[in-house]
Amino acid sequence: MKDDQQFKTPLFDAMVSLAESRKVSFHTPGHKSGKGITTRFRKFVGPKIFSIDLTTLDEIDSLQHPKGVIKASQSLAAKAYGADRSFFLVNGTTGGNHAMILSVCPPETSVLIARNAHRSIIAGLLFSGAHPVFFSPETCPDLKMQLNVSFEGTKAAIDAHPEARVLILTSPNYYGITADLPEIVAYAHEKGKIVLVDEAHGPHLHFHPALPGSAMSANADIAVQSTHKIIGGMTQASMLHAKAERIDMATLSSVLKMTQSTSPSYILMASLDLARMQMATEGKKLLKKAIRLAGDAREKINKIPGFFCFGEETLSLQKTGNWGLDVTKLTINVEQLGLTGFQVSQILNKAYQVQVEMADPFHVLVIVSIGDRQEDLDQLVQSLIEISKQHFGHLRGKARAASFVLPPFPEKTTMGPRTAFYQNKVFVDLKTAVKNTASQIVTVYPPGIPILVPGEVITREIIQYLENMILIGATVDGLDDDGKIAIVREPEYGSSASH
Ligand SMILES: Cc1ncc(COP(=O)(O)O)c(C=O)c1O
Repeated sequence: MKDDQQFKTPLFDAMVSLAESRKVSFHTPGHKSGKGITTRFRKFVGPKIFSIDLTTLDEIDSLQHPKGVIKASQSLAAKAYGADRSFFLVNGTTGGNHAMILSVCPPETSVLIARNAHRSIIAGLLFSGAHPVFFSPETCPDLKMQLNVSFEGTKAAIDAHPEARVLILTSPNYYGITADLPEIVAYAHEKGKIVLVDEAHGPHLHFHPALPGSAMSANADIAVQSTHKIIGGMTQASMLHAKAERIDMATLSSVLKMTQSTSPSYILMASLDLARMQMATEGKKLLKKAIRLAGDAREKINKIPGFFCFGEETLSLQKTGNWGLDVTKLTINVEQLGLTGFQVSQILNKAYQVQVEMADPFHVLVIVSIGDRQEDLDQLVQSLIEISKQHFGHLRGKARAASFVLPPFPEKTTMGPRTAFYQNKVFVDLKTAVKNTASQIVTVYPPGIPILVPGEVITREIIQYLENMILIGATVDGLDDDGKIAIVREPEYGSSASH
């Protein structure tokens, strides 16, 4: 049953009414409702957007001390998402991940982390000074990708580390594959752990029964979602949802006050207010269409020679865990074309004006959302048909495929991430870095999963993987402009890294 309250948009309404009152402004922002904006900018976007680019004022409340319309909007979000408190975020899920970690992971505590974490999780640990204990997601050799963590794998990690007070998961992963959150959260709680979920790719899950359940419905303690990635938030607009049972809301609020801007964008916050209203009142209908469009495209893509786009049935065949799939994500395997995902992504962009979310060595990833139309999916499918006609049968890249599989993360560390980050560092060629201690986060982007975390001893397999990824055009983040890698110059603690 729909909750009529969810049609309300208290923040947006207050912003519109303030903008229409045309009060004379002697406050920030300096463009004064657009009067000081360059003509080119105003001509392109129109004048109205500037009239709601506002700042903290009585009429429109304060994100730092919400007492009025922002408080009301955040309460509506909490209700819609099944949380006790929801917080608007203006620095994406990156900022939310930092805040959730800082609020529950004091320095020196152990934190269990599924290694498919985004770099913002590692950065949060670096800020907090907590110690990561990583465990691996399951991989699927057939699909040539990571699935997510399994219940058994997570249980084993929890049992092996009774000292860890927090468990951090990423669900769904970039490809839309979710972990078995209800089982995992229940077990973690039984063992006294707080569960934090990076749900950047799941702000829509709560609103359609054909999608995997959300982290809040699985009773996770905190979940952070990129409202901007999948539903109607403007870029950078995210939300953090929390349950009160294990989370100290006063600490969480004060961390958010310290980490968020004191000049948050009202345009971003209004987009959160409206996106929540849209999902709560018509999300099911809108998502039904997105699910249908994606399902129809998946079926057509699977008939094109050279492409394979897995669905729920493929995942249910995997014996290692109880995976869920956000079926609005289309992960298209391109291996049989003899091209890499990066190459297909470039061909789609340059020759067919189709831009995908990301590519990896084997796949391109397509996000289908409430903003897509039938003709958009038709253009994608038609482009893939053309690409297949030109490339299927060549199998150029197949022999090299094995070298692109993600290597195991290093088992040896010489010091914690924060200590390693602040050591004297030196930049060296990739090859000579083997057996040294990493001093920066190194990721292959996208999806931004850390290949190396500061403090870890660099392995030969990792260097080989990085070199291969650079060769095929992936972006490796964490190297300098000459492609050199930062290592700890003089490892401390009698490290094994001192060759
Ligand atoms: C799993 C995951 N977490 C967090 C982030 C960061 O989110 P945001 O871009 O909203 O800061 C990303 C971005 O791609 C992500 O994939």
